[in-house]
Amino acid sequence: MTTPNSAPILSPRSPDESALTMTQFMQPEHSNSLGNVHGGVILKLCDECGGIIASRHSRRPAVTVTVDSVNFIKPVLLGRLLLVHGRISWTGRTSIEVELRVEAEYLLTGERTLTNNAYFVYVALDEQRKPVQVPPLLLATEADKRRFDEGALRQQRRLAEAGRR
Ligand SMILES: CC(C)(COP(=O)(O)OP(=O)(O)OC[C@H]1O[C@@H](n2cnc3c(N)ncnc32)[C@H](O)[C@@H]1OP(=O)(O)O)[C@@H](O)C(=O)NCCC(=O)NCCS
Repeated sequence: MTTPNSAPILSPRSPDESALTMTQFMQPEHSNSLGNVHGGVILKLCDECGGIIASRHSRRPAVTVTVDSVNFIKPVLLGRLLLVHGRISWTGRTSIEVELRVEAEYLLTGERTLTNNAYFVYVALDEQRKPVQVPPLLLATEADKRRFDEGALRQQRRLAEAGRR
């Protein structure tokens, strides 16, 4: 279906449909020179998780356009299971913000520690690799509406900082 100006009408999708948890066991090859997990390993997993979520929501290839509010709260020790949880918090016309939370689980006790959080923003691309409209977010709960409004404010700030608005 199209609107009079030919923009497609896309059905809203719940953030639950695309939400994802990726896990990876942290081995010596993930280490930095201090013997903990390298921050770049964590960021790569976050970007992978967020990119899959953006593609799942839009059913399009999605590229990372910006990353912000990355926090390294606690070091991740080797031998821990890393759990990267991602969920869409806000969508624009072609852009999608994913909230990432990272936990480290100690397998012998099951104890989980929040080690990182961040927001990654993606843009969905069409066949010509141009930005393309994404489905709006279905906001079923008050918490999702609040997250969406906060995401809109973050995006305004990003665009202002990038000198785009
Ligand atoms: C992402 C990319 C296609 C956007 O191109 P562009 O010319 O800025 O496109 P547009 O002006 O149409 O903007 C597209 C969307 O990105 C958003 N955007 C652009 N720059 C942004 C920034 N710095 N911060 C947040 N959002 C941004 C715009 O607001 C717009 O969102 P909207 O449609 O929801 O309003 C382009 O910047 C690019 O190819 N970047 C490289 C991506 C990449 O290689 N990533 C790493 C590997 S995945």
